[in-house]
Amino acid sequence: MPSWSTPAPPAEQRRRYTPPVDPLDRATLALERALGPSVVDTDPTRCEPFARDESEAEGVTPRCVVHARTSDDVSVILRHCEENRVPVFPRAAGTGRSGGATAVVPGVVLDLRALSQVKELDRENLLAVVEPGVVTGTFHALVEAEGLFYPPDPQSAETCTLGGNAAENAGGPRAFKYGVTREYVLGLEAVTMGGERLRAGRRTAKGVTGYDVTGLLVGSEGTLAVFTELTLRLVPQPPLVCTLQALFATVDDAGRAVTALVGRRLVPRCLELLDTLCCQLLREAEPSLLPPGDCCMLLLELDGEHPEALERDASRLADACLHAGARSVHLARDEAERARLWAVRKRMSRALRARAASKLSEDVVGPRTRVPELLSRARAISERHRVVMPAYGHAGDGNLHVNFLWDDPADKPRVERAIEALFRATLDLGGTLSGEHGIGVLKAPFLPWEQSPALIAMQQRLKSVFDPSGCLNPGKIFPRPGHLGC
Ligand code: LAC
Ligand code: ZN
Repeated sequence: MPSWSTPAPPAEQRRRYTPPVDPLDRATLALERALGPSVVDTDPTRCEPFARDESEAEGVTPRCVVHARTSDDVSVILRHCEENRVPVFPRAAGTGRSGGATAVVPGVVLDLRALSQVKELDRENLLAVVEPGVVTGTFHALVEAEGLFYPPDPQSAETCTLGGNAAENAGGPRAFKYGVTREYVLGLEAVTMGGERLRAGRRTAKGVTGYDVTGLLVGSEGTLAVFTELTLRLVPQPPLVCTLQALFATVDDAGRAVTALVGRRLVPRCLELLDTLCCQLLREAEPSLLPPGDCCMLLLELDGEHPEALERDASRLADACLHAGARSVHLARDEAERARLWAVRKRMSRALRARAASKLSEDVVGPRTRVPELLSRARAISERHRVVMPAYGHAGDGNLHVNFLWDDPADKPRVERAIEALFRATLDLGGTLSGEHGIGVLKAPFLPWEQSPALIAMQQRLKSVFDPSGCLNPGKIFPRPGHLGC
């Protein structure tokens, strides 16, 4: 035997030796044992679609997808992931636009879609208790059948879930009058890494006991805890709705109309804008959607209880648009016409996606009085960097989805420079980098452009209070420090 070799261990030790096991294998095995193999899917083909959400953020196929059925399952999953120090990526419908649900490293995906009960509808206290996997559009229909109203209306309402909306603090067109998801989450139950269950918030109309942990968790993009129940505030359903479409020759006119409406303190529930390029692309996709000729569109919607008041406000809106240079203002006469006007807006995202091999959709917000400037800065950036950049969105909130379209992968560096220029322009105007899609993966590198090192460090300390090992939805919000395995 050569003198440098290690002597063989005694027979007793050899029997006890077990090869090291990959923590992900160990966690998967533990989850299969705890929950049953039918709940833990390890088939790579079925796991692959869970790598990403509806953004352009790249993901990696998770080692397993665990389809939680109850809040107890969530607790078990987060306990085993913590014990084995493996990354876990919570998600429901995966309709996010910033990569908030993307599995950025090999790990466990926690699928919450089956937690889809509406547990309670309290008509007197105007609230509902729901599980995170309830589809937002289904919930809208359910409460509206009772004469109640849940205002947040992300454009993906037919497929997205209330849990995902709360994680990203989603908005939508009606946010102009009613505000975003955070304003409707009164309380919640959430599970932290390790499996501990927390109840935060309230069921009452008012309540300021302790820190606003509910407010902190809403919009935390699945990085602090996993929601297992939400208590949502409802409002009475406004019985009357009136929708108008105003067409303008130029986006400058439409932008000025937005400023004029805001200046006149007119608060329709929605004030949406589609720029000239969006209208052109929509018309090309489906000619019946818009009249011929170049135009830019504002879609305005009012709601209320009194027909005379609604009529008066509608004609004030129409006047303000005409005064700002609208070529035409059209009032929907019935529900079918209203649906037709909204179809134009709802087709937008799909029409753009079909237009180019690659599309990136941004979500910047400027002060609402500076929408014309934000639009013209975006146009100048598009020309300077030679990138096709149609813009649309929630103009009343100053929240624009500026899209970047390109076909040739070699154009990507130019697109990246254009995105950076848009972010700089937004911040210059006193705006913010995300209005409703979240920071996720895609905007994480730019967080330091908007927030100070001290503020980012404080948020990271907060994260480590909830998730000391950093295993819960890593790679989101904060610029990535080195590798992400935990
Ligand atoms: C919309 C989505 C992209 O407003 O937020 O269409
Ligand atoms: Zn939007």
